[in-house]
Amino acid sequence: MRARTYHDADADLGVLADRTGAVIGYGNQGAAQARNLRDSGIRVVVGNREDAYRDAAVQDGFEVDDIARAADTGQVLLLLIPDEVQSSVVAEQITPGLRAGDTLVVASGYNLAFGLLDLPEEIDVVMVAPRMIGEAVRNRYERRVGFPCLVSVERDVTGTALATALAVAKGIGATAAGAVASSAREEAALDLFSEQAIWPTVLAVLQVSYEVLADAGFSDDAILDEIYLSGEPAEVFARISRMGLLDQLRTHSRTSQYGQLSNLVRSGELAETLRRRFAEVLQGDILSGRFAGDWSAPGADTEARIRELLERAGSHPLIGAEHAVRARSREETGSGPPG
Ligand code: NAI
Repeated sequence: MRARTYHDADADLGVLADRTGAVIGYGNQGAAQARNLRDSGIRVVVGNREDAYRDAAVQDGFEVDDIARAADTGQVLLLLIPDEVQSSVVAEQITPGLRAGDTLVVASGYNLAFGLLDLPEEIDVVMVAPRMIGEAVRNRYERRVGFPCLVSVERDVTGTALATALAVAKGIGATAAGAVASSAREEAALDLFSEQAIWPTVLAVLQVSYEVLADAGFSDDAILDEIYLSGEPAEVFARISRMGLLDQLRTHSRTSQYGQLSNLVRSGELAETLRRRFAEVLQGDILSGRFAGDWSAPGADTEARIRELLERAGSHPLIGAEHAVRARSREETGSGPPG
């Protein structure tokens, strides 16, 4: 299924000419997006609590106010504070400043997708979600090369929500490379799927590989270099992104190409297990809202949960082996493998 892609020519910065952008939060995304919008000729105020981020915004020459006053001043509000605090900050500090016809812009779909933001009915709600860290959002804007970004209209009261979303996307530099039409649901589901299906499986592959190779009597040093310490897997992923999943195979030896292709898991027990597990994560945990309801429940002690799981993960023999190899390498070379 193909998605529509919006380019610079589809967006008109003019729709923001008589509106003020209120960038709420001056962190990773906030600092980059506020500077890009300002350089695109859009009037920007920054809303931030008293902290070092606020000082940085002042330092960068912005008009800075507390969140409630900035929300009151702006008509296009970019919500660029961490996802887990958005629900309470919106309810307590932003909603009172929202007026009919204002636009709320989110950079991540999670809170909208799972109904965690309590928003007044008479405002537009859109998503402009860069798939890029803030530093690169700024750097790529300066080089006019754009960056991957998902755009959606979640609520269109004025009839101009898409035009506003595209103007914001252009103002932060996203449409230079083409911004992809999406939805908060899609953005959140894909993000959570990577986190809950793809990456845990990659970690499990490394753990099981270690178990099998260590059982066969190979040394920790050699195993760990092979499976990730050398940085080779990171290079393969970089080549996959640059050249393509199969085309990058050309950069491997013939023996490696044959080994990889002849062992590709496409059917059988393992493929079925993965398919079942991934479908269960996507449907049962993510799209059903079960995960969000549990993780974002008021009062959930998320720090304690992470601490406990980290402790449990840390008891796998691979982790002990890694620490020992790193420590030996540090002693011997004074630096050790890339940390
Ligand atoms: P961040 O962690 O850099 O946010 C820091 C900012 O949030 C600071 O201005 C700080 O004052 C403010 N803040 C933190 N806690 C607060 C609280 N309790 N009350 C009021 N203000 C508070 O956030 P980041 O990473 O820029 O994320 C912002 C949004 O952008 C999120 O929705 C995130 O999912 C999205 N996003 C982030 C990306 C990234 O590269 N970090 C990439 C794409 C989207």
